Amino acid sequence: MQKLFINIKELLQIRTNPIDKVSGDAMAILPKIDNAFLLIKDDIIEDFGTMANCPKLENTEVIDATGKVILPTWVDSHTHIVYAGNRIQEFVDRINGLSYEEIANRGGGILNSAKKLNETSEDEIYEQSKLRLEEVMLQGTGAVEIKSGYGLTIDGELKMLRVIKRLKENYSLPIKATFLGAHAFPIEYKENHAAYIDVIINEMLPKIAAENLADYIDAFLETGYFSVDETVKIMEAGRKYGLIPKIHVNQFTAIEGIKACVEQGALSVDHLEIVTDEDIEVLKNSNTMPVALPSCSYFISIPYTPARKMIKAGLPLALATDFNPGTTPSGNMNFVVATACIKMKMTPEEAINAATINGAYAMGISKTHGSITKGKKANIIVTKPLTSYYQLPYEFGNNLIEKVMIDGEFIS
Ligand code: NIG
Ligand code: FE
Repeated sequence: MQKLFINIKELLQIRTNPIDKVSGDAMAILPKIDNAFLLIKDDIIEDFGTMANCPKLENTEVIDATGKVILPTWVDSHTHIVYAGNRIQEFVDRINGLSYEEIANRGGGILNSAKKLNETSEDEIYEQSKLRLEEVMLQGTGAVEIKSGYGLTIDGELKMLRVIKRLKENYSLPIKATFLGAHAFPIEYKENHAAYIDVIINEMLPKIAAENLADYIDAFLETGYFSVDETVKIMEAGRKYGLIPKIHVNQFTAIEGIKACVEQGALSVDHLEIVTDEDIEVLKNSNTMPVALPSCSYFISIPYTPARKMIKAGLPLALATDFNPGTTPSGNMNFVVATACIKMKMTPEEAINAATINGAYAMGISKTHGSITKGKKANIIVTKPLTSYYQLPYEFGNNLIEKVMIDGEFIS
């Protein structure tokens, strides 16, 4: 049956001419209709407009949205939702003065999560991960990218990607899988990087491709992790299997990694807490989406991505959570949007664009998701009654969502 929302206080992110992303000054514009209707047919956005033009329809469920705001669901283009256990002890260690780097150097960090993952069964990892996925869906996330990268062994990486595949099969929101075998060097390869890269390229990748387990390829391009040259090798190998790169880069240091990613045709470059003028020049006129992860900056107390400088230079920017056990044990996109406004000085319009249409671009789904456009998927957030959509970032940490619809069905 059709569903017709009426008397919507504000219908946000309406795009009559489909766009795939917004950049620079255009990020400040969030097209909306006040006192609107929205018609959903099956899983698709059929029509929308002002109440003055609201159609009279038969066989239609009418839903009164007086005082409420409707917007497209959040698109979270960067997560590590599939993991085992947690890293609560490291959280306490950081409170007591250790840095993320010091913890990693003591064998904690990514290697700590890899140990736990390799000791946990696929079924158990699935059960833990699906709870996190269900939680973020209730918080308004209607599309999500999920990375491997806590296996760092052939079996462990395959196990993670098979869990992601099961999530794809069992949940109706779009999920993209990213192979992140190059997340850290296992201890036994610490002095022999070439040998681990050989495992990634010649053992993991062919198996992953044979089972069709990944959509994208990632690496942690960072001082002390994967160098520019090592990452280029991995990106080139991934492309042979049709895996486009989405790369962790410039989290702690700028080592010309962004340039290499753009040259390799990366769909996105993610983190960017440290960004040089040269990096910005390289990103201009590229098709690569920069992605900021403000919850990570918040949680491990590192700089925030310089959004103002990037937007002023004409760049687009996407926002994502980075949900993972080490640097961001939270998948709440509402908090990300609020933190982008509060700490990165993005306007509410810019932050919402970054968390919807630009997120959709960064996960390769902007044709079907990320805006209220006829023919796109009916993935929407219905808020509680609000003063205006500004209340969303203003009341950071509060739950202002009443209902979430994925593929035309309410999930709660
Ligand atoms: O995106 N920076 C690299 N990877 C993850 C965190 C990894 C971890 O600490 O588990 C991130 O922040
Ligand atoms: Fe990450």
